[in-house]
Amino acid sequence: NDNTAPYSYLTPIGKNAVFKWRNKPIFVRHHTPQEIIREEGVNVSQLRHPRNDSERVQKPEWVIVIGICPHLGCMPIANARDFGGYFCPCHGSHYDASERIRKGPAPFNLEIPQYVFKDDSTVVIG
Ligand code: FES
Repeated sequence: NDNTAPYSYLTPIGKNAVFKWRNKPIFVRHHTPQEIIREEGVNVSQLRHPRNDSERVQKPEWVIVIGICPHLGCMPIANARDFGGYFCPCHGSHYDASERIRKGPAPFNLEIPQYVFKDDSTVVIG
């Protein structure tokens, strides 16, 4: 099924996986406990697109975003060194582990799709 991702089997803690949904990449990141603490503690008043981590996740250990850079539409790559999230190589947008824009030209955070957790191993996108 196109919009059902077996997220937990394919994404061990600290890892990312990419799924495809309506021809868009969906990034699933399994946060470590340290990442959860760090992202929840970010002072969002300094951010370009200020959103608390808790507004971006349904469960703190899972970040699910659409993998299209809101600058000009490239696909970011995982594990950017500077802020712990994705990095867009096209023009250098850096995202943190909550996939909020932290540096570079992107005007917005990586977008969050509609999704629901069906059970402990399956998430339904859309
Ligand atoms: Fe990602 Fe320009 S498209 S930084």
